[in-house]
Amino acid sequence: MAERIALVTGAGRGLGAEIARTLAADGWTVAVNDLVEPSAQATVDAIRAQGGEAAAFAADVTDEDAVAGLVARITASLGPVTAVVANASGPQPEIPLEDLAWTDVLPHLEFFAKSPLLLAKAVLPGMKAAGGGRIVHIGSDLFERGDPGWSAYMAGKGAMLGLTRGWARELGRYGITVNLVAPGWIPVERHGTLTPEVEAGWQRQQAVQRMGIPADVAATVAFLVSDKAAFITGERIAVNGGQYLG
Ligand SMILES: NC(=O)c1ccc[n+]([C@@H]2O[C@H](COP(=O)([O-])OP(=O)(O)OC[C@H]3O[C@@H](n4cnc5c(N)ncnc54)[C@H](O)[C@@H]3O)[C@@H](O)[C@H]2O)c1
Repeated sequence: MAERIALVTGAGRGLGAEIARTLAADGWTVAVNDLVEPSAQATVDAIRAQGGEAAAFAADVTDEDAVAGLVARITASLGPVTAVVANASGPQPEIPLEDLAWTDVLPHLEFFAKSPLLLAKAVLPGMKAAGGGRIVHIGSDLFERGDPGWSAYMAGKGAMLGLTRGWARELGRYGITVNLVAPGWIPVERHGTLTPEVEAGWQRQQAVQRMGIPADVAATVAFLVSDKAAFITGERIAVNGGQYLG
């Protein structure tokens, strides 16, 4: 790919911010998206401080017009998006079936099925014109673990995997790969400070005896968007220290 312009959604904090910083360090020009400008701009400032290239683009990536406008603005100011990382997420409450309503499931489908669809359709013409591209979905290994109380979230992440597989087969002919990265629990800002007991309990479930860090996820995404991963598509890659094998 001649053009190396990556869009990372929900990149104002958490895993998205680390993914954005890592892609910038790898030489990508990064379009940093989040819901509000100051949040995205903080990641842009961090990237520029490291000598990388980035710009902030606030938008609600679950809204059809907003996503069309987002990709149009990026294309006009930076060039065609050749890698998109669908990472943004809203709240993820734990809700047992007895209390679960359709209105609890729908937001997850908006983040993990609707938003990836809007993004993929918006970037597709640019990727085709550029002769290739990379689509990376941030899923979750909760889909495989099947923890109680998380069915709505898992429905969204499961839908995301379905989209990954279908689009991989549709888009490979254009040099576009589509993969899903499934993190285990990777503590970020929103998880606060963990007690040693919580960390030790979690680590005992993993083959690799440490907590995962955002850089573990970002490194996997960086590989998948690189030229080295051109022959990998339709895959789900778990980044969970071997906590769940499947
Ligand atoms: N951290 C983990 O343990 C973990 C594990 C498995 C999967 N994941 C997945 O990784 C992704 C990132 O998770 P995180 O832990 O960094 O979450 P996070 O809540 O820290 O970050 C999500 C970001 O998305 C932004 N956002 C929210 N609504 C948006 C919208 N409509 N448009 C644009 N941006 C919006 C938020 O402002 C926030 O900056 C999510 O898809 C999550 O499901 C995380």
